[in-house]
Amino acid sequence: MIEHDVMIVGGGLAGSRAALEIAKSNPQFSVAIVAKTHPIRSHSVAAQGGMAATLKNVDDTDTWEAHAFDTVKGSDYLADQDAVAILTQEAPDVVIELEHMGVLFSRLPDGRIAQRAFGGHSHNRTCYAADKTGHAILHELVSNLRRYGVKIYDEWYVMRLILEEGQVKGLVMFHILDQRVEVVRAKAVMFATGGYGRVYNTTSNDYASTGDGLAMTAIAGLPLEDMEFVQFHPTGLYPVGVLISEAVRGEGAYLINSEGDRFMATYAPSRMELAPRDITSRAITREIRAGRGVNLDGSAGGPFVYLDLRHMGKEKIMSRVPFCWEEAHRLVGIDAVTQPMPVRPTIHYSMGGIPTNTDGRVRGSAEGLVEGFFAAGEAACVSVHGANRLGSNSLLECVVYGRRTGRAIAQYIQTRKLPEVNEQRYLTEAEQQIQGLINQPGQYRIAQIRQTFQDCMTEYCGVFRNESSMQEGLAKLQEIRQQAQQIYLDDKAKSWNTELIEALELQSLLIVGEMILTGALNRKESRGAHCREDYTERDDVNCLKHTLAYYSSAGVDIRSMPVTINMFQPQERKY
Ligand code: FUM
Repeated sequence: MIEHDVMIVGGGLAGSRAALEIAKSNPQFSVAIVAKTHPIRSHSVAAQGGMAATLKNVDDTDTWEAHAFDTVKGSDYLADQDAVAILTQEAPDVVIELEHMGVLFSRLPDGRIAQRAFGGHSHNRTCYAADKTGHAILHELVSNLRRYGVKIYDEWYVMRLILEEGQVKGLVMFHILDQRVEVVRAKAVMFATGGYGRVYNTTSNDYASTGDGLAMTAIAGLPLEDMEFVQFHPTGLYPVGVLISEAVRGEGAYLINSEGDRFMATYAPSRMELAPRDITSRAITREIRAGRGVNLDGSAGGPFVYLDLRHMGKEKIMSRVPFCWEEAHRLVGIDAVTQPMPVRPTIHYSMGGIPTNTDGRVRGSAEGLVEGFFAAGEAACVSVHGANRLGSNSLLECVVYGRRTGRAIAQYIQTRKLPEVNEQRYLTEAEQQIQGLINQPGQYRIAQIRQTFQDCMTEYCGVFRNESSMQEGLAKLQEIRQQAQQIYLDDKAKSWNTELIEALELQSLLIVGEMILTGALNRKESRGAHCREDYTERDDVNCLKHTLAYYSSAGVDIRSMPVTINMFQPQERKY
């Protein structure tokens, strides 16, 4: 059996930052990261626009309190304010620390780190590396992992969290290369497995963003928090859905409808294109629904609006957002220097996730913590984003809470012994599961079921939601789940069997989808990204609370947990 002091699942920003903190704290600790891709290919690498921190390099009136207020207001008052205070107070320090590690941030003419405007932020506080910020940070973190001796199991798929009597003891994983199954025991396990964009049919997320960590946590009987809050990024490139960074609007681009109007004047007159994402995504969707979208031939009534950069000029476009220019050019043949880009909302981020306290310890209920289990980053819900995340707060969360969780783990394992685990039992069950999938005489192709499922989630639980359509969505989901029991695999190979991985990922997607739909059906109000056409107002009297959802094969059980409000009382949210 493999043994480590700490086993971290996920090699993106949160996992890598935590691993580094633990390894630096004591070189004797045996720290490992396991991920289904190489850490450098984690979805964090695709983060573009930047990371918020009140460095005050561009605006010396900025404060951490202003950053905290913007974050809480952006969250529609559902964020836990103690967690937000930590996020915003520690932000400048983690950015400087990254700079000292060697991250190549973009600079002001005087050499200090440059900062740009971002949606919902009242000051220019987003630090960036052109529009490749995630790439710049992740590369430095991963090279540091090697320097500090962190063991990396890349291209291993984690199948199961070992949780016995309220204690996490390890996990079961298999090697994609040769299907070897291994049981790992550890004093602490951390999930930093990212989001689930592939639950929907159009997403800015990587193909690997299938919510595996969330599903494993739910299957183990632990709750997931606030899963109904799904972020649509306003500017996914049409039709592919890849991210066109908010940095493009931060640098001055306009959103234009088929009539040539900057329609954000109707929806958020004081912030225009830099309103928070929930408001901007709804505005675009409303314009399209009202017939003011654009078609590919330029006529009205189509499925997208324009993102217009032309007035910014070539020099600014190429120096500040070169990657976005390249994406539009390569993927849809648009030269953004002379042509507007076609955009529409695309699934981008999960506000909900595995509930944790501010040390990254996972909650087993509203009152209790799970021994040996930690989480951070997008997979976790601490909750700093509440009902709607502000752009450039997610890289920040990964690094602040990755570092904090790493520190907490380094402390925690000092007094914890390696747990006893019945290796044979877990090996046998995992091997049976794999053989069962490979030998199953089913009638459906995985891609067919996955597409039907993604279309179902997109249609019934999108930007706008209502009771009857979500009920219909849940009923369809039950049918899809039945069909998913009858998939068959063409690929029986023992090496690099990607169809087998897709079969396992499909199980994760279905569980996560059911958690989202059930949470959304249960929340009878509109708050942040959760917008109900049948309950159009925020309801602080009945609904200012976190959802805790428990999964079982019989259905999802919904409970709740209080929100920490210790700085800013809820107000009407206007921009
Ligand atoms: O638009 C963006 O560059 C995305 C940033 C974020 O999600 O924080």
